[in-house]
Amino acid sequence: MIKKFLDLGYQPLANKYLKSYKKLSIKKKELYRLTVGFDTKTKLVSLFNKIPDKIMFDSNYPYKSSMSKTMTDSFKKLSVKIKKRFNPKLFLEIGSNDGALIKNFNKNQVICVEPCSNLARITKRKGYFTYNDYWNLNLSNKIKSKFNTVDVIYSANTLTHINNLNQVFKSISNLLTQDGILIIEDPSFLECIKKLSYDQFYNEHIYIFSALSVKKLINEFGLELFDIEKLDTHGGSLRYYIKRANNNKIKIENTVSKQISTELKFGLGNFSTYLKFGNSVKKSKNDLLKLLKTIKKKNQKIIGYGATAKASTVLNYCNIGNDMIDYFVDTTPDKKNRYMPGKNIKIKKYEKKLLNNVDYVYLGAWNFVKEIFKKEKKFIQKGGKFITHVPTPRII
Ligand code: TYD
Repeated sequence: MIKKFLDLGYQPLANKYLKSYKKLSIKKKELYRLTVGFDTKTKLVSLFNKIPDKIMFDSNYPYKSSMSKTMTDSFKKLSVKIKKRFNPKLFLEIGSNDGALIKNFNKNQVICVEPCSNLARITKRKGYFTYNDYWNLNLSNKIKSKFNTVDVIYSANTLTHINNLNQVFKSISNLLTQDGILIIEDPSFLECIKKLSYDQFYNEHIYIFSALSVKKLINEFGLELFDIEKLDTHGGSLRYYIKRANNNKIKIENTVSKQISTELKFGLGNFSTYLKFGNSVKKSKNDLLKLLKTIKKKNQKIIGYGATAKASTVLNYCNIGNDMIDYFVDTTPDKKNRYMPGKNIKIKKYEKKLLNNVDYVYLGAWNFVKEIFKKEKKFIQKGGKFITHVPTPRII
């Protein structure tokens, strides 16, 4: 049974940055109710309203993994690890985006799967074999008929964006060699609770995984976890290493039982923990609004940094408009001169000078705080301050 624990109100589609501001309507289905539930049986956290993938992932998807050094560094490290530990003859990435990871592999070793045509074009152009398609059983069969089986399948921040998880894992199991490895990484719900980062919820994040839920989910497809790594990316993620359950050649590391027992100790098996989280989110909203209003009363200027999908959830849930945040800055070319989803706040192409005469910077990309602080030393030296809502609304 799926029980509701969080209601983030009416929300626009994140990652849909309009060219000019217009008020969105519930009737025209431009806004949808963002409510989140916990399945007491499977322990899986999911959104109640699921937007069709063709609407979310189209030919104008703005997010590019290569936009941040933190991500490209993380992918580079991972590629070295995968080659050393698994030495794949054939490597498949589901959700290859602009090729931030696969660029570290040989062209004849890699199959890319990417539904957004603007992104698939990039890896195709670079010479990587790319399927511009959604991950499902049809595609898995198509790949199988051409390549037979694949040694290592990898997917970061993608599987949780696909509605039909059963089909996702069936399609993976269909393609993996007997000794094959599946590696997936996604934001960790434990980190989300600890950091009170309710902005991990937006239409694309249909599911937020925990080790508990992943273990149960993959079990049905004859797969099992054999290692888990903790990552700093995306506000705290877990990288799950998965093998076939009947493959006894690979040892199961104690990182798996450790993570699961930490999650159980924290209460991730019980609905009450989720309800508590839901209540804390309401307090976080009030505290953030209080903080922003106090600053605006002093006529000080606040801008946003990182026009993230996450920030879209915060702005719309807390009803923060251009009366509080003048504009956002972002390095992504496709977000330039667009508007934050659902709000009359313009996104400007990042330039250092846009931080001049700014008193406070709200961190839309709080997950890149280290990278941003390094870049904005001068702003900090001049007395500029940052605001974050993670884990509690405050000035840093
Ligand atoms: P990300 O946190 O991955 O976001 P999402 O919530 O959308 O999944 O995206 C980071 C965004 O922040 C991306 O649009 C690029 C932007 N950004 C900057 O503009 N400057 C920076 O220095 C960094 C690190 C990110």
